[in-house]
Amino acid sequence: MTLYETIFARRSVRQYDAAPLDADPLAEIQNYIGGAKQLPGQSAQFEIADADRLKGGFAPHAILAFAGDSDLSLVNVGYTLQGADLWLQSIGYGSVWCGMASPKEQAPDYRILLGFGKTDVPLRRGEGDFKRKKISDASNADNAVARAARLAPSAVNFQPWRLVFEDGKVTVAANVRGVGKLLPGRLYLYDLGIALKHVEVALEHEGKTVTSFTPRGSGKTFAVEAAF
Ligand SMILES: Cc1cc2nc3c(=O)[nH]c(=O)nc-3n(C[C@H](O)[C@H](O)[C@H](O)COP(=O)(O)O)c2cc1C
Repeated sequence: MTLYETIFARRSVRQYDAAPLDADPLAEIQNYIGGAKQLPGQSAQFEIADADRLKGGFAPHAILAFAGDSDLSLVNVGYTLQGADLWLQSIGYGSVWCGMASPKEQAPDYRILLGFGKTDVPLRRGEGDFKRKKISDASNADNAVARAARLAPSAVNFQPWRLVFEDGKVTVAANVRGVGKLLPGRLYLYDLGIALKHVEVALEHEGKTVTSFTPRGSGKTFAVEAAF
């Protein structure tokens, strides 16, 4: 399954086989995330941990993200780990973003984790299985890129962003309103990066390449413009 196809089938998996993965697939996953594309100028670090090193969470393993705490650093973690979420589900594993879990051993640059493992929970059958905002509430255009972004996972499913399409570019902008304001901390910045990854995968599916990512604003007005 391609990453693009996985956008229309993935889900948050919260039930896993207790059996851990073998060393070889774990090394392959570490290799993937270690070499994963990050936003320009960003250098988050990713480390696999087993459940016994974690508090909370559902999965036997997790990818822990370590990064600076600027707005762009958090967006980059969302963008990069969402690539891993799609890839893991495309090759048959389950995965779940988990803001409520954390490593038992505190680290100042720890940000968030993505749990993963073997699962029998099936993928979704298609777009109709997702509970999301209407496209018109999340985008100024209804097109294939917006439809893929709309399905992006977000903390508490708040989808705290809006897409603005203009000629040759699309901006993913924070849109923290209504109940979204109840979100703890700056989780919306991961959400923004996650949606940006879906935008990029959908553009690539159309044969387009993102030629630049330009961050704008800060905090609740933060946005990233992707030119293609
Ligand atoms: C940044 C982030 C943090 C999340 N934290 C949690 C969490 O702590 N616990 C949980 O059960 N789900 C968590 N989720 C999963 C969301 O609830 C889920 O993505 C959303 O409800 C959409 O469902 P779906 O991923 O199945 O499409 C998190 C998602 C994101 C993006």
